[in-house]
Amino acid sequence: MAFKPKITVVSHHQNDVAETVAASIQPTELTKKQKRQLKNQNRKRILECVPKGGVCIEIGVWRGNFSRQILDIVNPLHLALIDPWQHFEDGDKTEAFSGRTQEQRFEDIYTEVCQKMSAEIERGQVSIMREMSDTALAQFEDQSIDFAYIDGDHSYEGVCADLANLFPKMKDEGIIAFDDYHRFGWWGDGVLRAIHEFIGRHPTQCRILMVEGAQIALSKLPPHTEAQA
Ligand SMILES: C[S@@+](CC[C@H](N)C(=O)[O-])C[C@H]1O[C@@H](n2cnc3c(N)ncnc32)[C@H](O)[C@@H]1O
Repeated sequence: MAFKPKITVVSHHQNDVAETVAASIQPTELTKKQKRQLKNQNRKRILECVPKGGVCIEIGVWRGNFSRQILDIVNPLHLALIDPWQHFEDGDKTEAFSGRTQEQRFEDIYTEVCQKMSAEIERGQVSIMREMSDTALAQFEDQSIDFAYIDGDHSYEGVCADLANLFPKMKDEGIIAFDDYHRFGWWGDGVLRAIHEFIGRHPTQCRILMVEGAQIALSKLPPHTEAQA
């Protein structure tokens, strides 16, 4: 008689697989709401490992939903929210009209985030950097950031650039976490490849702290001395 495995994973979305195999639910049974809840749980587990009261940044903020979670769980000394909230033309002929509509949409979302964070901005706990991550990161001192969440440009080139620009700005023992650590979005294997290559190029300078569904967190290791070897 042929051997039949007990569990068959039918979806290949990593976020679903990790969570649903444990819960013995078929991934296809998850609703959008359940997927969102799982993602929130995974991100919460990462945030619970971040030391309280440090300097944090979020690259890619959108409506500021995760920014609120960072504030609630980590209670940072300071949180910089980095996002251009800008529509980029893609050369489509309809852009002349839809581009303007999109521009207004981004403007509205930016205003909404500023309003949602107004109390924290007022007391100096939150700053909003309405710009691309490369120019924003250039304004930080080296060794100044305790926690960074990267969720901006998901292309291979975008994640490589964010990591290269961010790494020197991180304190030793600082934590860098990423969303969408999987291959099933428009970015293909870009996020995975950029992270894995970075670890490969810095084999003694960072370590994988945790993977929770489609979230991954790295920690920056202090310089390795001969005495430790
Ligand atoms: C997936 S959304 C972020 C969602 C948010 N982190 C959350 O969990 O609620 C991606 C955001 O990245 C922003 N973005 C894209 N490229 C960026 C870049 N180079 N620097 C900063 N933000 C960028 C987009 O404007 C968009 O708001």
